[in-house]
Amino acid sequence: MRRKLIAGNWKMNGSMAALAELDAIGATAATTPGVDVAVAVPATLIASAAQRVRGLSVGAQDVHQGECGAHTGCVSAAMVREAGARFSIVGHSERRADQGESDAHVRGKAEAAHAAGLQVILCVGETLDDRDAGRAEAVVTAQLAASLPTHAEGEWLAVAYEPIWAIGTGRTPTVADVAAIHGALRAKLRDLLGEEADAIRLLYGGSVNDANAAELLGADDVDGALVGGASLTATKFVPIIEAAARIAS
Ligand code: PGA
Repeated sequence: MRRKLIAGNWKMNGSMAALAELDAIGATAATTPGVDVAVAVPATLIASAAQRVRGLSVGAQDVHQGECGAHTGCVSAAMVREAGARFSIVGHSERRADQGESDAHVRGKAEAAHAAGLQVILCVGETLDDRDAGRAEAVVTAQLAASLPTHAEGEWLAVAYEPIWAIGTGRTPTVADVAAIHGALRAKLRDLLGEEADAIRLLYGGSVNDANAAELLGADDVDGALVGGASLTATKFVPIIEAAARIAS
C-alpha cells in the first residue's frame, strides 16, 4: 500500500511572512500521520522554512544537474540539501518550457538530486494539442521513459502527471482520463523497472483544489497530488491534506 503524498509547489511566490502559512500547514500535517506532506518553496526560503516548520518536508522546485561550477544563477542539489531541503521537483512543465529543459536534463537533475540525498518528484505532462490529437498517453509515457533516472526506486522517487493545459487554469481532466494516464504510467514503469515500479508513487497535478481533491485522489493509481495555487495558504491546502487522510484511513 503506497502512502498518499500531498506536495505543494509555491513556484515564484512567497516571502518570509508567508512562512506563517507553512506553520499552519505543518500543524495539520503533524496530526495526519497517514499522509506525507511536502512543500517546494522558492530557494530563498528553504533554509528558514526547514529550520522553523514542523510536520512537513521542505523542498526545492528545481536543482542543476551538475555538482558545482560556472552556472550563474543556478543551485545544486547539495546546496539545497545543505539548506534543509529533503526533496526537489524536477522537470516541471514551466521549466521545460521557460528554460528549455529536455528529458535528458531532467534525468540528469533527478540523478543529481538522488546523489545528494534528496527525494525527487519528476513531472511529465502533455499539451492541449497532444490531448486533442489523442496522443496524451504516448507523449507522457515517452517523457517518463526518457527522463527516468537510473536506479529509480519508490523510496526516493515519485512521478507527477501534470497535463500542461490543466495547470493554473481551473480545468482538470476527468477522473477516468487521470486513471487511464496513471495506469499507462504504471505499466511503463513496470516495463522499465519490474516489481520496483509498484513502490513508486504517482501524483496528479493541475488545478487540484478542495472541491475536486477527494474525487481525484480516489482514482485508481493516484497516490497523491502536486498542488500549485491551492498550496499557498493553509485555508486552501489543509482541506486537500484532509481529503487524502480520509481516503488513506
Ligand atoms: P496548479 O499548479 O495547482 O496551480 O494548477 C500545479 C503545478 O504546476 O504543479
